[in-house]
Amino acid sequence: MIFLVKIMGVVGSPRKEGNTNYLVKEALKAASNLGVETELINLGDIEIEPCIACDICKSTGECAIFDDVPSLLGKLVDSQGVIMGSPVYFGNVTSQLKMLIDRSRPLRMDFKLKNKIGGAISVGGSRNGGQETTISSIHQFMLIHDMIIVGDGAPLAHYGGTGVGSTINSAAGDEVGLETSRNLGQNVAELALQISKK
Ligand SMILES: Cc1cc2nc3c(=O)[nH]c(=O)nc-3n(C[C@H](O)[C@H](O)[C@H](O)COP(=O)(O)O)c2cc1C
Repeated sequence: MIFLVKIMGVVGSPRKEGNTNYLVKEALKAASNLGVETELINLGDIEIEPCIACDICKSTGECAIFDDVPSLLGKLVDSQGVIMGSPVYFGNVTSQLKMLIDRSRPLRMDFKLKNKIGGAISVGGSRNGGQETTISSIHQFMLIHDMIIVGDGAPLAHYGGTGVGSTINSAAGDEVGLETSRNLGQNVAELALQISKK
């Protein structure tokens, strides 16, 4: 039986064709060049409610809110790597992505994301507008799920994909954002392939 390695891209922007979408797609293209399967979900396309702290997930391992999140969580469980991107909003992730992060708690009950490979991408309107703090929030989510975090690797080797752009698709002209996002996608795929070798 052929086992396909899958990398999920999650875009935390409400803008479906925005800069984060552009850079996460670039990362997924670099990943798929290594032979992995990829899928992209825009949080702007799906219905997400906030966690209401009902704690039902603590006893059942399932979320009691029936919107689009449980199906997205299932896709994360079925993949070997996750590339999560967010625009910088006040130095942090968007509220859409934070809602998904909080709603991922059911997966932590028995660590369903353990040892999956994770990488982060962030785009701000300014070069130093909070990309690293935003990436750090995504990394915290990944660490708390016991995932394995990778950065963008050599030659730049920092936190992940860091882009600059304001108007739709202006990040397409940002060489640093493109290079770091592509390198991140390649790194996530490389390690996911290595770890999945039987
Ligand atoms: C509510 C809000 C807050 C923002 N805060 C920041 C910020 O703190 N730093 C920054 O560099 N850009 C900030 N921006 C600009 C966005 O990060 C930037 O336009 C980004 O390209 C949007 O990504 P998207 O096209 O994927 O939605 C903010 C934008 C909005 C709407």
